[in-house]
Amino acid sequence: MAETTTRAPLPKGFRGAEQGWPELRRIPHPPRRVPLLGDVLGVNRRTPVQDSMRFGRQLGPIFRRKAFGNEFVFVWGAELAADMADESRFAKHVGLGVANLRPVAGDGLFTAYNHEPNWQLAHDVLAPGFSREAMEAYHPMMLAVAGHLTDHWDRELAAGRSVDVPGDMTKLTLETIARTGFGHDFGSFERDRPHPFVSAMVGTLTYAQRLNTVPVPLAPFLLRGATRRNEADIAYLNSTVDALVRARRAAGGDGDLLDRMLDTAHPDTGERLSAENVRRQVITFLVAGHETTSGALSFALHYLSRHPEIAARARAEVDAVWGDAKVPGYDQVAKLRYVRRVLDEALRLWPTAPAFAREAREDTVLGGDHPMRRGAWALVLTMLLHRDPEVWGADAEGFDPDRFDPKAVRSRAPHTFKPFGTGARACIGRQFALHEATLVLGLLLRRYELRADPDYRLKVTERLTLMPEGLRLRLERRAVTPAGLAPAEAVDEASSEPRCPVHGARD
Ligand code: HEM
Repeated sequence: MAETTTRAPLPKGFRGAEQGWPELRRIPHPPRRVPLLGDVLGVNRRTPVQDSMRFGRQLGPIFRRKAFGNEFVFVWGAELAADMADESRFAKHVGLGVANLRPVAGDGLFTAYNHEPNWQLAHDVLAPGFSREAMEAYHPMMLAVAGHLTDHWDRELAAGRSVDVPGDMTKLTLETIARTGFGHDFGSFERDRPHPFVSAMVGTLTYAQRLNTVPVPLAPFLLRGATRRNEADIAYLNSTVDALVRARRAAGGDGDLLDRMLDTAHPDTGERLSAENVRRQVITFLVAGHETTSGALSFALHYLSRHPEIAARARAEVDAVWGDAKVPGYDQVAKLRYVRRVLDEALRLWPTAPAFAREAREDTVLGGDHPMRRGAWALVLTMLLHRDPEVWGADAEGFDPDRFDPKAVRSRAPHTFKPFGTGARACIGRQFALHEATLVLGLLLRRYELRADPDYRLKVTERLTLMPEGLRLRLERRAVTPAGLAPAEAVDEASSEPRCPVHGARD
């Protein structure tokens, strides 16, 4: 797993495409480039990913965009993306939005530069926290949080109201990672407005994205107010996490991620994470562990509501696999193969982390055609890779979970489905997210019929991750339900109570 570097580390931060790509001129860019400003005509600073998707469709499998003097190369064709997945020649690049998160997440797992020793240390210490055994231990806590969601949805249904899907999925996934990882309860379902921690987190993510849309030297002037707010947001995130860690140190825990961070020494070197690094990891996991999963669940629910025949098939599977069980066991979630395909298909069309960046470890030639110097990088635009008609067919834009039928998967080229990134720096929380999301979809399908608003048109917001905007669904309790359909209270709360001494404050 270790990323060995035999040469001096590359310089940090932005490396311009002009320096990195000797034959940059051969890579197409949008027409109508404006001197000094670049490719800014017809773009919306709030939707850079969807703009890039539009450009990609016009310009082909590799293209470039320039804004305020910075030029970026994008890759989305299946062959080129597969070439960039070659770990012997390419590695993760920390740039653009990810680098903008360094002030808050520092050398935490997601934002660490490849050469920073804390990446390997934290990876080795924390990876067992995502093993199968660890997932089984999280399962009852995931169920308990899902019980809060269904309680809330039952109340909304009884009051004749539709439900706010992205808002509620965000509450669910934040509570899940906070409880399973850190024994903390933000009390999201008891609040009318987002917890201040969530607002601060959304603030820093939005700010990180905005930094890409203004000329770097002008950012302190153009974003003066936003910069001040961002500093306050970061201070709030830090102080909340510090309180959580202090309380845990005082009270002890029983083996969750935070305990691992605080107590586990590296198996080979005996090294431990520093206090500063623990703070960064906690923030990293709270952010990375919920934003993307809530989007994935929201898109899946959108498509299930639009395709009653797919929902019926998924529901039939849940009934067959879970039968009369009051609550599903860990293995019964893994057996929901079709529900899992629904989720994969939602992540194909809307990979909620819609791109990741790769840099050349040495001078190389991408796809045998585009020379790159050591350190040159490109963004792999997953959202378009997942819609490449050469891979997914002429109906690539349509929602069809059977694309993830095992036979169909085997017949596709490797590296064509990459919602969790690639290589050593791929998502450490993949199994966690998939288990949580499959479990929740199963519970919701078992309990409700999902009714779409016929006037709703899918609109996607971007704040580094993707989320359907304004998606509300009407619910109906299922007319015929299996005997075991459990009320939320049936979930054994006692076995899954959060263990965090500060949670009582519901700060
Ligand atoms: C559907 C849900 C999720 C998606 C789509 C997703 C996607 C990704 C992607 C694309 C990367 C690689 C980024 C890059 O190359 O720059 C990544 C990394 C990461 N993810 Fe996730 N993620 C999800 C859920 C989670 C969860 C639940 C957790 C934690 C519990 C998590 C924690 C992380 C961390 C810590 C990294 C950095 C890993 C490293 O560099 O060593 N993610 N994720």
